[in-house]
Amino acid sequence: MDQHPTTPAPGEPTTDRVKGIFSRIAPEYDRFNALSSLGMDRLWRRAAVRLARPRPSDRVLDLAAGTGDLTITMARRGKPAYVLSTDFVPEMLEIGREKVAELEGRSEVEFAVVDAQDLPFDDATFNIVTVGFGVRNLPDRTANFREVHRVLMPGGRYVILEFSRPPFKPFRALYHFYLKTVIPALGGALTRDRASFDYLNESILAFPSQLALAAELHAAGFSSVTWRNLTFGIVAVHVAVK
Ligand SMILES: C[S@@+](CC[C@H](N)C(=O)[O-])C[C@H]1O[C@@H](n2cnc3c(N)ncnc32)[C@H](O)[C@@H]1O
Repeated sequence: MDQHPTTPAPGEPTTDRVKGIFSRIAPEYDRFNALSSLGMDRLWRRAAVRLARPRPSDRVLDLAAGTGDLTITMARRGKPAYVLSTDFVPEMLEIGREKVAELEGRSEVEFAVVDAQDLPFDDATFNIVTVGFGVRNLPDRTANFREVHRVLMPGGRYVILEFSRPPFKPFRALYHFYLKTVIPALGGALTRDRASFDYLNESILAFPSQLALAAELHAAGFSSVTWRNLTFGIVAVHVAVK
């Protein structure tokens, strides 16, 4: 018999594991992101906002918003009427709230503690739903896709920015080496919590390919799904239309 039947597999997201990790690493999250991606995370979020194509009257829901960087990019560059920034870890959201308070000339932004798998909103409430580097951490993606589909207006878009699978094999091997060595060392040095970064790496390696994720979105009822690879496919932006 398995002596540890409740121990999750490497890279497997469970609610307790994910909440624990992000409440612990919240103060260092932004610094880790900028260093580990060599500053490219900002460009990836800008690309996601461009692909979301917000209009001035749009209402946007940002899920798993963490410390608010995708919310902020949306509010400053996309300038929809309204952005609701949500996460289920209040420590992450609080940092986002402080950053947004300093911004001028942007959309109206509000914050709420929300589980991305169980959305407390009426049907057809938002024109756009975004999630940046959050879908990978959901134990039940199907529940999230079903809920997002429900709260989107007809024709609304779900924009998923997530680590993905570089198609060119030699580059992929190099990137996976970087993931397994540099990322835990850097994350461990910044937060003294190397185990959390081992999990984050495993979760990237366990995440479905671009094509497989698109198939899951189709199966959840989205009528069209496209994606764009960024930085040789390290990251992809999927756009699923209701
Ligand atoms: C890697 S961070 C991404 C933050 C931000 N979107 C960004 O672009 O930097 C992942 C976030 O997902 C949140 N998260 C994970 N599972 C969640 C869930 N079920 N509901 C809401 N937030 C969740 C975590 O708390 C964490 O803040």
